[in-house]
Amino acid sequence: MAVPFLHLLLLLLLLLFLVPLFLAETTSSPYLSPSTFLPGYQKMLKSFKIFAYPTPPKDPAALVEASSSAALFDASLLRSPFLTSDPHRAHLFYLSFPSEEPRSIARFLRAIRSQYPFWNRTLGADHFFRSIDGLGIESDRNLVELKKNSIQISPFPTAPGRFVPHKDLTLPSLMFQLADLPIPSAKPSKFFAFYDGAPRSPVISPILDELRRIPDFLINSWPSNPVSRLGTMSVSRFCLFYYDRDRPRRDLAIGDALAMGCVPVVISGCPILDLPFSDVLRWTDIALFVGLHGGAGEVRRAMNRTCGETYERMRVAGGKASIHFKLSTGPRPFDLFHTVIYQLWLRRHTIRYRRYNEL
Ligand SMILES: *[C@@H]1O[C@H](CO)[C@@H](O)[C@H](O)[C@H]1NC(C)=O
Ligand SMILES: *[C@@H]1O[C@H](CO)[C@@H](O)[C@H](O)[C@H]1NC(C)=O
Repeated sequence: MAVPFLHLLLLLLLLLFLVPLFLAETTSSPYLSPSTFLPGYQKMLKSFKIFAYPTPPKDPAALVEASSSAALFDASLLRSPFLTSDPHRAHLFYLSFPSEEPRSIARFLRAIRSQYPFWNRTLGADHFFRSIDGLGIESDRNLVELKKNSIQISPFPTAPGRFVPHKDLTLPSLMFQLADLPIPSAKPSKFFAFYDGAPRSPVISPILDELRRIPDFLINSWPSNPVSRLGTMSVSRFCLFYYDRDRPRRDLAIGDALAMGCVPVVISGCPILDLPFSDVLRWTDIALFVGLHGGAGEVRRAMNRTCGETYERMRVAGGKASIHFKLSTGPRPFDLFHTVIYQLWLRRHTIRYRRYNEL
């Protein structure tokens, strides 16, 4: 009788030790689905195949964006093992347009649909493309199908009407590689909240002016240089951002704040539909979202409410999430490139329309 009892006791002791560990691990996870992300990611590495259509020479104007995260993404894709030269093995098809000009895109698509059978199969649903400003409303049939069916990748934030939630993706702005340090276990906080940059909207200015008067708030009117911005983020509890859909700014460095252990507070007057990696990350576990209606008081209350263990959990989860915002010149697991590829992989199940004579 004594032996089974001993086993039970051991098991109980083991559980007592393991459960808190396990809980700590899952409660500070930044993922929407921690149990499916890793297996899905591994499967993607093994199986995902992309066919890139040959691209005509780029317009010189398109080379201006050569150093952006989008261009680096392109370079990573073209060097990656995900590319296949056999389109019949491909899950998705990549369209790299010679320019952003709608007429030139339409001409390119017309050639693709007459030379290859793949566009007509799905009317573009298993195709993806990059666009700097996002595709607007067009009347050309090819462009309509592209906008309605194909997966668009554009920088965050995307202008209103130029992003289709659940279909399109956004790329976060490029993150500085300086931020490769582990997040400190105890965070020195010199500032309670930090905002960096010129408020270009009359809506947010009065809120910032009010916050600026609070002693341990640092509200800059001009963007500081990237290195000192990172340094200040690392000694701030909260980093404030203003999401302005009508004046999209490409320097919303939310990824930098996450890496520096500064919990992002995103102030916005409208719902945010285009958050980067929203199929992977549970954003409400790593950032605060505050509306404009309650003014500076509400922004401050939201931060005040997030304290103690809740704050620490968000900060640690955010630090873990920051790996997805880094884009390195060499491929690195879980970096920005691989996370975008993973989101494309999640979208690979598309409906194939069969033509009646193929049935
Ligand atoms: C695809 O469909 C269009 C008309 O909708 C047709 O002109 C084109 O030839 C088709 N492409 C192929 C490869 O059959
Ligand atoms: C937030 O907390 C600070 C310090 O505890 C306090 O002085 C302030 O009144 C609080 N503000 C709000 C809006 O709750």
